[in-house]
Amino acid sequence: MGGEAGKPVGPDFQAGVPLESIPDGGTLPGRVGDEAVLLARRSDRVFAVGASCTHYGGPLAEGILAGETVRCPWHHAAFDLATGAAVRPPARDPIPCWNVERRGAAIFVTGRATPPPRPAAPLPHPARIVIVGGGAAGNAAVEALRLEGYSGSLTLVSADAELPYDRPNLSKDYLAGNAPEEWIPLRGRAFYEEQRVDLRLGVPAEALDRERRHVVLADGKELGYDALLLATGADPARLPIPGADRPHVKTLRTLGDSRGLVEAAGRAKKAVVLGASFIGLEAAASLRARGLAVEVVAPEAVPLERVMGQEVGAFVRRVHEGHGVAFHLGRTPREIGPTDVTLDDGSTLRADLVVMGVGVRPSTTLAESAGLAVDRGILVDGHLKTSDPAVFAAGDAARYPDARTGERIRIEHWVVAQRQGRTAARNMLGRSEQFDAVPFFWSAHYDVTISYVGHAEAWDSVEIDGSLDARNARVSYRKDGRTLAVATVGRDRESLLAELEMERTLPAD
Ligand SMILES: Cc1cc2nc3c(=O)[nH]c(=O)nc-3n(C[C@H](O)[C@H](O)[C@H](O)COP(=O)(O)OP(=O)(O)OC[C@H]3O[C@@H](n4cnc5c(N)ncnc54)[C@H](O)[C@@H]3O)c2cc1C
Ligand code: FES
Repeated sequence: MGGEAGKPVGPDFQAGVPLESIPDGGTLPGRVGDEAVLLARRSDRVFAVGASCTHYGGPLAEGILAGETVRCPWHHAAFDLATGAAVRPPARDPIPCWNVERRGAAIFVTGRATPPPRPAAPLPHPARIVIVGGGAAGNAAVEALRLEGYSGSLTLVSADAELPYDRPNLSKDYLAGNAPEEWIPLRGRAFYEEQRVDLRLGVPAEALDRERRHVVLADGKELGYDALLLATGADPARLPIPGADRPHVKTLRTLGDSRGLVEAAGRAKKAVVLGASFIGLEAAASLRARGLAVEVVAPEAVPLERVMGQEVGAFVRRVHEGHGVAFHLGRTPREIGPTDVTLDDGSTLRADLVVMGVGVRPSTTLAESAGLAVDRGILVDGHLKTSDPAVFAAGDAARYPDARTGERIRIEHWVVAQRQGRTAARNMLGRSEQFDAVPFFWSAHYDVTISYVGHAEAWDSVEIDGSLDARNARVSYRKDGRTLAVATVGRDRESLLAELEMERTLPAD
């Protein structure tokens, strides 16, 4: 994703604009010299901020104002209008802010504002914090702790030898060959040094001694903690069929997996993707971009039907078929040979590369063996605390109470994991922040991006406004008259508004 965001257009705000030209509750794009700037107005207050999102450069002028924040249309990051701070992931860095002056009925931008000083962490705070898992949640927690002013000892342990990276990209632009290697790490090594983060990469945590408050690493070292975050994510499932362990059969979770797929794709002509999951289908699109013939095998009649319903699933299938992908639905693989896959009806598909996109299992072994409460995920309360008050859990591994329904849910979304990492970080510092964010995810297939807000495991009606095939639609999933989730294609602003609406329906504590 790139776009034209950031190209300076519109009036130069240094020369002044009438206050009335900025819609109340809205924004006016323009520039300060060569920099793209957005004026945002809340009644008589006017803010001047950078116009591009610091995540992938989304155009903030096409987003919405919510309270004193501006939200990005692409992946729903939010920035504080007064300070520029990235108050919601997936953005991590602030946008710039400018000083604004009102002279009569006109607004002038006078110069860059200086960023506010960092807060000091509330005292007393834990002397030693250990985070296990260097993915979305773990990295977000590290960054949030230092942003909150935490100055104590901070260690990030990860089984992955890489610096924390942009996992969603692994099945999209990176796998398709459109994202260079340097886009993938979330931060350079220098960032962690500056932030005094003790990085233990490529070393899984093997055991947890909760009585002594020690984490035991695979290299035999022990790390003491006063507060611990388990952000161990999820592991890709493998079908238990003959041939599943052949070297040309791949799963996709890590940067190493994606690199391995890129390498294998360079030697292959024909790929079979097992599973019509988001990751399986995104991988199919990326392998098509590399020129491979791709066939998808899945047991369901419609791809993604369980999550997105028949209409969106059928649309996604049409999009893929339009790019030459063949589907074998209602079928399961029986065996994987060196050059083919045999299906349950006895038919065979030639394949010199096989991708298994058949879902993930939450990574709970460490928690389970330490005696923490685990039930299809590490059980946490609304503050993301596990059954041990010194241990928190966040991300794909955690099952938490949905603030809207009270039901425990486990979500596998990048932004949810990041937001949970932040909430857990603040709660480790003694806050009592409830995790009540509305889930959001996006999925990209060729030039089609689907945005989804809310959470619907079952619904009694699906309402489509617009046309999916025209790539301009809003799909509402309802139960008992309540909208549980909204998927959009080509309507990013509506996705933001739907999220805002769902936030407002949060039951009072
Ligand atoms: C290819 C791909 C594409 C995706 N695309 C999207 C998308 O477009 N939109 C979206 O919303 N979501 C997407 N997701 C899902 C999203 O990436 C996950 O929901 C998110 O990464 C979960 O974050 P996490 O921190 O819980 O786990 P992860 O990001 O998986 O991080 C877990 C970390 O824990 C480490 N770990 C595990 N066990 C141990 C241990 N015992 N000791 C030490 N370290 C350990 C792992 O090595 C890993 O670094 C995608 C996922 C994949 C795999
Ligand atoms: S580009 Fe703004 S949130 Fe991704």
